[in-house]
Amino acid sequence: MTSIEKISDELEKFKVSTAEDLERYRLKFLSKKSELQMLLGEIKNVPVEARKSFGQQVNILKQRAQTFFDEQKAKWEGSQMLENSCLDLTRPATAATIGSRHPISIMMDEVCSIFEQLGFSTVSGPDIEDDWHIFTALNFAEEHPARDMQDTFFIDQKPDIALRTHTSTLQVRTMEHQKPPIRVICPGRVFRNEAITSRAHCIFHQMEGLYVDEHVSFADMKQTLMFFAKKMFGENTRIRLRPSYFPFTEPSAEMDVSCNICGGEGCALCKHTGWVEILGCGMVDPNVLENCGIDSKKYTGFAFGLGIERMTMLKYKTNDIRLYFENDIRFIQQFASAKY
Ligand code: PHE
Repeated sequence: MTSIEKISDELEKFKVSTAEDLERYRLKFLSKKSELQMLLGEIKNVPVEARKSFGQQVNILKQRAQTFFDEQKAKWEGSQMLENSCLDLTRPATAATIGSRHPISIMMDEVCSIFEQLGFSTVSGPDIEDDWHIFTALNFAEEHPARDMQDTFFIDQKPDIALRTHTSTLQVRTMEHQKPPIRVICPGRVFRNEAITSRAHCIFHQMEGLYVDEHVSFADMKQTLMFFAKKMFGENTRIRLRPSYFPFTEPSAEMDVSCNICGGEGCALCKHTGWVEILGCGMVDPNVLENCGIDSKKYTGFAFGLGIERMTMLKYKTNDIRLYFENDIRFIQQFASAKY
């Protein structure tokens, strides 16, 4: 075995597993007195014909030893630094702060889960809508005030495109794509051009419900909404339906639940009436069914639209709707332990 092969072999086999090993490596291969350095000194004594190739081989070997040494040195120096610094790897880590869900999301999940028990499935749709889905298909008259620029955020005109003012758009979208029996709930964000006060905001959330099948009656609607109110606010909750008007339902009603803050006795939240309004509802107007391609002679249905903020305020006993949009961590964190 020539010295070159021998040193190459030794380089290969040398294991560095401590900083001391690395120093031994340096002495053996890179110090002035090492065999490898000796070989470098020998180059000039080699006969001319063989000198070039010999020189090349020795230099490659030297390069190899140096590169390996440099790499290892960087590694061991790093570890030395760790030892010398005051970094304590056994110290417990700083706990990552765990967020909590927004009360509006918590409420939407809870409403969905109650209606899921009755076989409703959840669907969603766009915040930016065309005139057909917000107004026309829903039987809104040409001169209805909601179609006014002052009431609604229009994005474009002719064709009219606006931020949806209610989730009833999803009644239309669902009926356009599904045939009865239909049983859906549709949570979503809605927008109205309103002054911001403790009770109203220009952005809020609704949950639409729609049930269309043969022989669906007003009594079915009342039972469904009663089931919902009791699940949400407790077994002793009472509901009342007051006649109302919406262009897309006939007959229409507004539903109140007994105030769960004063138990019906009368307080500031219920304005001393004992009742709090939480939703609008009614039987789907036959014109709407026909607009969506559903035979109004064969099918009937009911729809309702819940105000999520109103319900959340009632359930969690908060008195200012603006709290839900300011996202003050001190407010939001109070919902960390909410069940839903
Ligand atoms: N879309 C109505 C509103 O925003 C609520 C509603 C929904 C009423 C469904 C009846 C049926 O006020």
